[in-house]
Amino acid sequence: MAHDGNLDVLVVCGSLRKRSYNAALARMLPKLAPPAMKLRTAPPFDQIPHYNHDIQDSTGFPPEVTTFAEAIRSADGVIIVSPEYNWSIPGALKNAIDWVSRMKDQPFKDKPVALQSCAGGVLGGARMQYHLRQSLISVDAILFGRPEILVTFSAKKFDEKTLELTDQPTIDIVTQQLAAFEKFMRRVNGQ
Ligand SMILES: Cc1cc2nc3c(=O)[nH]c(=O)nc-3n(C[C@H](O)[C@H](O)[C@H](O)COP(=O)(O)O)c2cc1C
Repeated sequence: MAHDGNLDVLVVCGSLRKRSYNAALARMLPKLAPPAMKLRTAPPFDQIPHYNHDIQDSTGFPPEVTTFAEAIRSADGVIIVSPEYNWSIPGALKNAIDWVSRMKDQPFKDKPVALQSCAGGVLGGARMQYHLRQSLISVDAILFGRPEILVTFSAKKFDEKTLELTDQPTIDIVTQQLAAFEKFMRRVNGQ
């Protein structure tokens, strides 16, 4: 955790693909964040095995899980930027949450978390966000409310070649969310 007035925020991207719109939005966040918000990218979680209690019992938590959990634990807050898959949370992201949920020193406990999603369609990943909210409440995270970031028709909001976010209303609302999330984190963390 930062002790210099800055806030250390972990950014988790739920898409694993190279030309992901969600990853493109995640890359844009440092430009839009208030000065005291320092963003860092979460360690990879795509190599974490499918959750199986037998693995946990026999060899303990895989190193990728421990690293991912420690990154969450040490942050002042977390921003999850994720697509919606079949009306819900992408499997790799849900698997990572399932693994860390089994840890005694629960990484998400009392952690401020904000959500963002980019989707191809009209709902902007809303159904994924509702499911993610439920899962994160089950691990005692503290969910940020509004403004919500639901980027609809993503292909029209990012530059086709550079994948830079070009849609001004989206830039504005993301900027507003980050400013509000800073205040929320300070309130939750008692700063
Ligand atoms: C397996 C799969 C399931 C999808 N299901 C949904 C869905 O339920 N709702 C939706 O809005 N888009 C859905 N999409 C389309 C995604 O919104 C779109 O591919 C988006 O760009 C993926 O995010 P990314 O660019 O960050 O990888 C799905 C895509 C995939 C690959």
